[in-house]
Amino acid sequence: MKEEIIKTDGLTKIYGRHVAVDNLSFEVNEGEIFGFLGPNGSGKTTTILILLGLTYPTKGDAIVCGFNPIREAVKIKRIVGYLPEHVGFYDDMTARENLKFTARLNRIPEEESDKKIEELLEIVGLSEFSDKKVGTYSRGMRQRLGIAEVLIKDPKLVVLDEPTLGLDLEGSIQLIELIKNLSKEKGITVLFSSHHLNEVQRIADRIGIMIQGKMVAKGPIETLAKEKLGVDKGEYTLEELYLKYFQEG
Ligand SMILES: Nc1ncnc2c1ncn2[C@@H]1O[C@H](COP(=O)(O)OP(=O)(O)O)[C@@H](O)[C@H]1O
Ligand SMILES: [Mg+2]
Repeated sequence: MKEEIIKTDGLTKIYGRHVAVDNLSFEVNEGEIFGFLGPNGSGKTTTILILLGLTYPTKGDAIVCGFNPIREAVKIKRIVGYLPEHVGFYDDMTARENLKFTARLNRIPEEESDKKIEELLEIVGLSEFSDKKVGTYSRGMRQRLGIAEVLIKDPKLVVLDEPTLGLDLEGSIQLIELIKNLSKEKGITVLFSSHHLNEVQRIADRIGIMIQGKMVAKGPIETLAKEKLGVDKGEYTLEELYLKYFQEG
C-alpha cells in the first residue's frame, strides 16, 4: 500500500464567526497529484497554510510527511516545497542569483547547488534567460522559476497554490505539463489548487471539490463523474460535474 503523505482529520479553521475550513478530512497518497478544486474563498489557501504549519487549525488534526504541522512546522518546511499564490523574488537579481540565494537559505553546499541550479533551470526551460534580471520576466517565467526554487531542496511533497493564476492558456499548459512530468519522473507527490477545471482534469489523479470550506467530493474524477452524472469517461466535462455539486451545495 502507498504511504499517505497528507492526512487530515476534521480540519477546521474559524475566523471570527466565519468558518473558512469546515471539518475537512482527506488524504493524499505518495506519488499522486491531488487537485484541490474550488472557487475563490472556498478555503483552499487556508487549508494549505494549515498543512504547512503557517496558520493553526481551530479544530482537527493533520499529518504531513509524518509530521504534525502544529508542532513540527520546521521539519515540514525542510522537506515540503511550497509555491505560494504570490511568489516573491529579488527582481534586480538574475534567475540564477535568485536560485543561489534560495540554495544558501536551505544550507545546500555551493559545490552541490551550482550543478543543481543549472539542471533546474534546464528543467523549467529558463536556461536561456538565466542571466536576465527576474524583474524583466513574464508571469509564466516567474512561475517556472518558482517551481525551480521549490525543487532545490529535493522535496518529497510539493504544494502549489493556484500556480497558473494569471497565466495565458499556453503558459498554463506549459506549467501544468511541467508539474505532471516532475511528479511522474521524480515520484514527487503534488497538491495543487486551482479554480480552472480543465487543468485539474488534465493532470490530477484525484480531486477534492471545495465549496464554502467543505470538501463536498473527493476521488478520481472518473469515479465522481460516474456517481454524480452517471456517465463514463470522456462523456462529461469537469465543469458539468462541478456545477452539479455547486448547485446542490
Ligand atoms: N486571515 C484571514 N482573516 C479572516 N478571514 C480570512 C483570512 N484568510 C482567509 N479568510 C477567509 O476565509 C475564506 C477562505 O479563504 P481562502 O482560504 O483564501 O480561499 P481560497 O484560497 O479557496 O480562495 C474566505 O472567505 C476568506 O475571506
Ligand atoms: Mg487561495
